[in-house]
Formats: sequence, C-alpha cells, structure tokens
Amino acid sequence: MRVLVGGGTGFIGTALIHLLKARGHEVTLVSRKPGPGRITWDELATSGLPSCDAAVNLAGENILNPLRRWNEAFQKEVLSSRLETTQLLARAITKAPQPPQAWVLVTGVGVVLGRGGGAIGHMLLPFRLGLGGPIGSGQQFFPWIHIGDLVGILAHAIEASHVQGVLNGVAPAYSTTNAEFAQALGTALGRPAFIPLPSTIVQAVFGQERAIMLLEGQKVIPRRTLATGYQYSFPELGPALKEVIA
Ligand SMILES: NC(=O)c1ccc[n+]([C@@H]2O[C@H](COP(=O)([O-])OP(=O)(O)OC[C@H]3O[C@@H](n4cnc5c(N)ncnc54)[C@H](OP(=O)(O)O)[C@@H]3O)[C@@H](O)[C@H]2O)c1
Repeated sequence: MRVLVGGGTGFIGTALIHLLKARGHEVTLVSRKPGPGRITWDELATSGLPSCDAAVNLAGENILNPLRRWNEAFQKEVLSSRLETTQLLARAITKAPQPPQAWVLVTGVGVVLGRGGGAIGHMLLPFRLGLGGPIGSGQQFFPWIHIGDLVGILAHAIEASHVQGVLNGVAPAYSTTNAEFAQALGTALGRPAFIPLPSTIVQAVFGQERAIMLLEGQKVIPRRTLATGYQYSFPELGPALKEVIA
C-alpha cells in the first residue's frame, strides 16, 4: 500500500514508518520542512493529495513539553497543530479523485514506551539516578503502551479493512497505577523508586490545567482493539520496560 503519514518525522512516526516499510508499504511523509520522501503541508494544500491508499496523521505540538509554559499562545499551538493539519488532510482527501481507503487519526493514547523520545524519555534520567517515584498520590491510573504495539495497532488499522471506528491505544494491563508504573520502572533499572514528585511541583512546572493529565489518571480499556484481533507483543509492563531500557 502507499501510505501518507502526517507528522511522520516524530517519535511515533519514525517507528511507524520503519514498520510500514518493513511490511513492504511505500511511505510519503507530510512535514513542515521539505526533504526527500516528503511533501510539506503547504504543498498538500496547493497540489492536493498524492496518490495513496491510506493516510495517517500524527502531527501535533508536544502537549507535555515541560519547557513550554501552559499559556494561551502554547494552548493555541497545541490545538492548531492538530486541527489545522487534520483539516488540511481532510480537505485534500475530500477533493482527491481516488480517496484513500483508510484514514487514521491518533488522539489520546497511553504514555508511549519507546527508546529516544516521548514522555518516558523525560522520566528515565531521574529514575536512572534513583530519584524517581510516584507522581502525586500515585494512585491515579497510568495507561501506557509499548511503541511497537502502538505502531502495530496503526498498521493493523491501515491494513485490515474490517477495522473501523475508535481503537484505544493502550496496553491490556489497563489498571496499572502510577505508583505501580514507578515501581516497575525502578525494578527494570535496578534502582529504588520511592521519591514522590509532589502535586505542587507538577502544578508549578506544567500549570494547573495540564497537571491534571499527570495527577488524575484515566482507566482506559482496549476492548475494541482486542476485538479487532490485534495481538499485543508487550501486554505486560515489566517486559515492555525491559525492552525499552535494554
Ligand atoms: N509520545 C507519547 O507518549 C504520546 C502519548 C499520547 C499521545 N501522543 C500523540 O501522538 C501524536 C504523535 O506523537 P509523537 O510522540 O510522535 O510526537 P512528536 O514526536 O512530538 O511530534 C510529531 C510531529 O508533529 C509535528 N509537529 C510538531 N509540532 C507541530 C506544529 N506546531 N505544527 C505542525 N506539526 C507539528 C512534527 O513534524 P515536522 O517537524 O516534520 O512538521 C513532529 O515530528 C501526537 O499527536 C501526540 O500528542 C503521543
């Protein structure tokens, strides 16, 4: 299949493109920057959709970037980076003489466990130094997924015509709490993980509203993902973390 991947230069996109190419698909990226194997969002708007069988959008400003203040300008950027790219793709698909048969969007997924990026990338250093621990009370649910499974689910949604609707991109170990996650990460690294990160510090760094994402978890069950026949490579947290830090 020919697959168009918006935001394909990022953490998840890089892994997805690797998997799609390994499975024999042809991939074109949509990026803000021109380059080989890419088109820009401006080119998509002016020249229309390149011929493709599936389109995925992963573009979006990192909402949990600890270096950005949660002010109005950043909130607009977070929203518009997702909405505008999705609108551009949607318009291009609507106008295409032969629209793609699959159209996949990524919104809320669990914390993605992979090497060299994502939220886990920020967590590893304190945990390696033995300074890690639960966030806030630690009792909040902490949905997670190994990057291999997230891109596996995306490829499954692209390839299998029976897969439609919303699939939750989380591991089946859906009742993991943040304290259990911290404990498992400490164990995988062979480090203690008892130093809690107080809610007040999380609120000071991320701002009250954004801190809610870290301090109040969600219990997310991948019922439909399993029902579509997707088989997880990393259904359990311990082996998923071991693979990431190996
Ligand atoms: N990683 C996680 O743990 C996680 C968890 C939950 C949800 N997600 C969601 O999954 C999607 C992909 O995640 P990711 O970790 O791969 O993201 P990422 O590496 O931070 O970025 C994805 C791509 O988005 C594009 N982008 C960034 N800011 C943009 C902006 N202001 N306007 C337009 N494009 C912009 C960039 O592509 P170019 O520079 O090439 O334009 C970037 O490579 C995001 O929507 C993210 O919110 C990720």
